[in-house]
Amino acid sequence: MDKIRIRGGSRLKGRIAIGGAKNAALPLMAACLLTDRPLVLSNVPRLADIETLGRLLDRHGVTRSEHVTNGTATLTLTAAGVTDTTAPYDLVRKMRASVLVLGPLVARCGQARVSLPGGCAIGTRPVDLHIDGLRRMGAEIEIDGGYIEARAPRGLSGAEIVFPSVSVGATENLMMAAALAHGETVLVNAAREPEVTDLAHCLVAMGAEISGIGTDRLKIVGRDRLDGAHHTVVADRIEAGTYAMATAITDGDVVLANARQAQLAAVVRVLYAAGVRVEETPGGLHVRRANGALAGVDVMTEPFPGFPTDLQAQVMALMTVAEGASMITETIFENRFMHVPELARMGAHITVHRASALVRGVGRLTAAPVMATDLRASVSLVVAGLIATGATEINRVYHLDRGYERLEEKLSSCGADIERVRDDG
Ligand code: UD1
Repeated sequence: MDKIRIRGGSRLKGRIAIGGAKNAALPLMAACLLTDRPLVLSNVPRLADIETLGRLLDRHGVTRSEHVTNGTATLTLTAAGVTDTTAPYDLVRKMRASVLVLGPLVARCGQARVSLPGGCAIGTRPVDLHIDGLRRMGAEIEIDGGYIEARAPRGLSGAEIVFPSVSVGATENLMMAAALAHGETVLVNAAREPEVTDLAHCLVAMGAEISGIGTDRLKIVGRDRLDGAHHTVVADRIEAGTYAMATAITDGDVVLANARQAQLAAVVRVLYAAGVRVEETPGGLHVRRANGALAGVDVMTEPFPGFPTDLQAQVMALMTVAEGASMITETIFENRFMHVPELARMGAHITVHRASALVRGVGRLTAAPVMATDLRASVSLVVAGLIATGATEINRVYHLDRGYERLEEKLSSCGADIERVRDDG
């Protein structure tokens, strides 16, 4: 299996182009199932997860074509007729976001059979909120043989759905379903992540009527049919935040092209307190330390507009070399500290107690062979490797390939000593 090898110590300097957001592109792709007309998505990142969802859409009878210009992909998806409404286990278990086809399939076809995704490295991650919401809209749902069997032969009906807790995926699934339901749906305590907003804008372009976009109360008036549209995927705030941490840890100076401060406000506040400046410039977000030192800061993950759980591992890597202590609290996923023992192998001083990790900054990290069990944990090891003394080898690179486009190329263009080592053994 391939490895990433990093020799730490180079300061990152230059410009990194931030791609389209994976977590926006996935629901946008699922939205193609809502219409028989072409949905054209530009700024789609070229990632393993995108291909996995593409293969699932193939099964449903979607035709897709990709057009690449200047390194960015435009995807045309046409679900002229949905030929198969089953999302099989072998595809859903590879990527949980596959469950996003559930709402669109039931709304359009009156039925769907979607495998339950099961647990994953960062927690149990149930889909009860997706299922309860569809039931409120009139779907009959049974769990049979590990599959969600949903039926709504006369279509879905609008309903008021109050989420007991915030879920990005459930908000997206139900917003898509509501766009083709009879009558009005109100989603209360909806997720407000920029990726949810991006999907809402695309659905509006397809002819849906949605108000409250960007708030936690979305009102969707269903249509009999939706049209095709052309939509540009929003920039990846998590990729941008990751490179901001990478820049900060190396005491570098990097401009993140296409990144938007408004989507990273909580991250910018944390970085500011740590002694890192992030400024909006015409070329993008300019990241550099204020006056040399990094200071420990406390961080708690929360739904947007709070600090994103998808940047928790990376900010922890940054804090391992900050002066003083930092308390990092994870409130979204119950098991998202898988990177801690690996960072400890590089010399980090971290103590975990329940949902909080106390990080005491150390003078330096040292390289070690490490591996991680999920995407963000893996990239936190890349961030740590950039400053560690010696050659860090990160195994299980396929996690990185799920979510970071051309990672080695982007970092080495700013001076990092990073390479992919092919291992055919
Ligand atoms: C999305 C993101 C993921 C990010 C997460 C939180 C995508 C493809 N993935 O995942 O990168 O880390 O948001 O920002 O966009 N929950 C339930 N029942 C449900 C649904 C969720 O209890 O039916 C719980 C989850 O276990 C978790 C919390 O709610 O503890 C938030 O999960 P959710 O926002 O749904 O995450 P995803 O949409 O799966």
